[in-house]
Amino acid sequence: MCGIVGYTGCNNATPILLEGLDTLAYRGYDSAGIAVWDGEQIVMKKEKGQLANLKAIIENEPVFGVCGIGHTRWATHGEPSYVNSHPHGDTKKQLVLVHNGIIENYLRLKNMLIDRGCEFVSDTDTEVVAQLIGSVYSGDPKAAIVEAMRFIEGSFALAILFRDDPHRIYCACKDSPMVVGFGKDGAHIASDIPALLSYTRDVTFMEDKQIAVLSPEGISFFDEFGEWIDKPVVHIDWDMDSAKKGSFEHYMIKEICEEPVAFRKTAEQYVSFREMRLKGDCFPWGDGDAQSIKRIRIIGCGTAYHAGLLGKKYLTTLAKIPVEADIASEFRYADYVFEPGEVLLLISQSGETADTIAAMRMAKQAGVRTIAVCNVIGSTIAREADEVLFTYAGPEIAVAATKSYLTQATVLFLAALRLGQLRGTVSDDEVSALLAELEGLPAKMEALIEQRGDIQYFASREFSARHVFFIGRGIDNALAMEAALKLKEVSYIHSEAYAAGELKHGTIALIEEGTLVIALMTQRHLAAKTASNMEEVRVRGANVLAVTNGRLDDIEGHCSKVWQLDETNELLSPFCAIIPMQLFAYYMAVQKGCSVDKPRNLAKSVTVE
Ligand code: F6R
Repeated sequence: MCGIVGYTGCNNATPILLEGLDTLAYRGYDSAGIAVWDGEQIVMKKEKGQLANLKAIIENEPVFGVCGIGHTRWATHGEPSYVNSHPHGDTKKQLVLVHNGIIENYLRLKNMLIDRGCEFVSDTDTEVVAQLIGSVYSGDPKAAIVEAMRFIEGSFALAILFRDDPHRIYCACKDSPMVVGFGKDGAHIASDIPALLSYTRDVTFMEDKQIAVLSPEGISFFDEFGEWIDKPVVHIDWDMDSAKKGSFEHYMIKEICEEPVAFRKTAEQYVSFREMRLKGDCFPWGDGDAQSIKRIRIIGCGTAYHAGLLGKKYLTTLAKIPVEADIASEFRYADYVFEPGEVLLLISQSGETADTIAAMRMAKQAGVRTIAVCNVIGSTIAREADEVLFTYAGPEIAVAATKSYLTQATVLFLAALRLGQLRGTVSDDEVSALLAELEGLPAKMEALIEQRGDIQYFASREFSARHVFFIGRGIDNALAMEAALKLKEVSYIHSEAYAAGELKHGTIALIEEGTLVIALMTQRHLAAKTASNMEEVRVRGANVLAVTNGRLDDIEGHCSKVWQLDETNELLSPFCAIIPMQLFAYYMAVQKGCSVDKPRNLAKSVTVE
């Protein structure tokens, strides 16, 4: 979604803003703009399309100044165009601002402001905020923001420059993230951590209806009534290199290659491999939980939901506890009645996904305990959930989630194992044996990544496919769902996941000569069943690829190609099996010349409904 940056200090703001916007480009955008105080006036430059267009304009007409704000816009209200790009200002030309989020009552406010004489130039909800703040402004920026916030319904992260106070940036937030930090040459804001990493790793996360005032000397925070508040500084241990592409062609392949390390780093937080035991204190489960938790409801969106499906399998198998998994956008409107003893387990890489946040708040309001699996310290979900199990994937820049999925699955597996241990459904010996096997997984993952040339070759022959089906049973069905999502989002090839046994109930009608069907077969007890389904599609002309860690004689004759994985415990098989699926999606997209890291229409962090 949209990205915001801002800087005030002693250096030229323009290159800092442009670099910040570059870093945030992964969030997805269709226009960009900046506003800089040049010592006399606020100069605005904006343009539709790629950041390169904005940069070209600035190269021709350079802008110098020590205080400025910038924005990448992902259109919601009004098409991507010059006039709809941010920054926006008010009719009296007292301020300009950039905005992330959605103003839900913007039409009502717009009509009220038109009656008061405001002249609108864009179709955006953002301009309504600029006009609203301008209409209540009488020389005190903070007071105007406090007053305006009382009228606004919806979500917002705002960065505002006032003409009367041009060395300060005023920020305000509600349900949309904003991070601030003070570097050695001034104060910075951004809507996401990576844009601050070049300047500081000590940051403060803004919370709902809080106001921040950034000046070259420091940053002050205020509550929704304008009263001064103290806010904690959080140290982020991500380094700059982890947010840079380095020698890789795309972030997506870099992040796939980082999976063995991300997996190990995450597992080591929860496991003592020296003693082959789980670190009991690192899990949210207390002794009483073994009996008091009656049901776990897992919530997430997209890939995070797919990791949740693996979590469901882990919790039911290992902890023998009833588990449901739901998509957050459905769950939040399902009129669901929580039962006593129910726990909501939220999964989110960014910790900022609007629907997942809404589900979390619903549960909290109902007095239900919330536990999050999250990658970003200080994010809304990490702050508001009752307990957090962090993943240690580091920054994930490519829009398509890869290492975050793997680390979410890791945490879910370990949390299920610990709960099973407490409930007595898994013995200590079984725990040690599973952990010993887990310790060996990074080497297996690395071997798969090293052999990626084979997958690249396969993709070079298949990239003109128009439809791809992924089939599997049990855990493999959950994996198939993630494999299909990965392929469609980065390569734009229509792909579907189907429970292998369901094919006959309708979907098999779509199989024709040459249709690519990828059969995931990592569950030995289900292999023979899936092999029959492979045969059913093969005899109807499908080109079948099998991905298996089992015996080849189970599948011989039913497929034209096999990707053989090392043998692992069936519950652990997704950690290796997902890697070829992600690599396949990546190479198909590369072959097709797609924008791999920033697929069309998609945004990394879905902060609006
Ligand atoms: C797909 C993808 C999305 C996210 C989803 C949830 O590759 O990245 O489906 O998984 O938008 O995002 P988070 O995990 O940040 O809540």
